[in-house]
Amino acid sequence: VGDLGEAELKGKRVFVRADLNVPLDGEQNITDDTRIRAAVPTLKYLMDKGAKVLLTSHLGRPKDGPEDKFRLNPVVPRLSELLGKEVGKVDDCVGAEVTAKVDSMADGDIVVLENVRFYKEETKNESGFAEKLAANADLYVNDAFGTAHRAHASTEGVTKFLSPSVSGFLLQKELDYLDGAVSDPKKPFCAIVGGSKVSSKIGVIESLMAKCDKIIIGGGMIFTFYVAKGLSVGSSLVEEDKVELAKELMAKAEEKGVEFLLPSDVVLADNFAPDANTQTVTIDSIPDGWMGLDIGPESLKAFQGALSDCKTVVWNGPMGVFEFDAFAAGTVGIADTLAELSGKGCCTIIGGGDSVAAVEKAGVAEKMSHISTGGGASLELLEGKVLPGVAALDETVAVSA
Ligand code: 3PG
Repeated sequence: VGDLGEAELKGKRVFVRADLNVPLDGEQNITDDTRIRAAVPTLKYLMDKGAKVLLTSHLGRPKDGPEDKFRLNPVVPRLSELLGKEVGKVDDCVGAEVTAKVDSMADGDIVVLENVRFYKEETKNESGFAEKLAANADLYVNDAFGTAHRAHASTEGVTKFLSPSVSGFLLQKELDYLDGAVSDPKKPFCAIVGGSKVSSKIGVIESLMAKCDKIIIGGGMIFTFYVAKGLSVGSSLVEEDKVELAKELMAKAEEKGVEFLLPSDVVLADNFAPDANTQTVTIDSIPDGWMGLDIGPESLKAFQGALSDCKTVVWNGPMGVFEFDAFAAGTVGIADTLAELSGKGCCTIIGGGDSVAAVEKAGVAEKMSHISTGGGASLELLEGKVLPGVAALDETVAVSA
């Protein structure tokens, strides 16, 4: 896609769509500002080049118009701190109030517009609304990777009314890793896929299996694979209707010559609780009434061995219920292993959602080559899908004189 470095910016009104959908506590305090920090390089660049920045985002999923708890107000002071400059705010994202504010802005100024989802036309991608969003700007920059899988007015529709429409630095970086490095990986390439359900990861497993040399499977979904192998899994989570599919996935891996690694031992609990009684067993001796909540130490060792020569690793989904300390060792062990591999020049890519929280819990986030800011978006990209927010951007951008 066309990128920001190519656009002429001085004095231009730039409509920037970021993903500032940050978690807030009951008092409207931001509990994780990762997405705000990730938006800063693009914003700084635009401001330094003398653009007037109109920054938009959604926050949460408001149902019926404006609601105070979904206002973007908490983002403003944090952004001011990070940019070292006062950030303005308008309590709307379209209309006269926005126009008046833009008219008063100097080159290099920035203003946050209100939550675009206060208008139901946003998620419906209504053309008239997209046109209103575009009305106060000259060009469009999409840096909202976390929302790029949504065909909404501010991510897709608006591109029809603003030219050029280009990617910001964050969006570009996410694409470079989750698409570029994964599609054309340095070999050997290992994919690690975890999480509780096979059903939510079928697309990812199939897509990555076409590209990788080895695939490691962890998390609750392993038990569906064990049932497919004819093993007893006690009261572990099983998706009965996905057992056939699990068989097919294993057969496909064999056909393609992809090493398919499942854990050889598991940590069991007598109930789903942080203080449950536990025992570690090999996968062929899971007693009735016990459920597997983590991979065991032998499995971790085997996985570490398989990973040791890899040059590219992509990880999506935890190895166990890492939110409970008693069942976090497998997930934290994988995070530590990837941190070590990064230090040896391996490209380590963490694909959004729970795996990001796991890497943070292990305290090794800064060691990874790339940590995605997108949950659903990174999953869809890893599944090989085209993201509408990306497809809508210009292929190339002519530099104006
Ligand atoms: C996310 O948090 O995954 C993105 O901000 C998208 O939010 P949404 O699922 O409400 O569209």
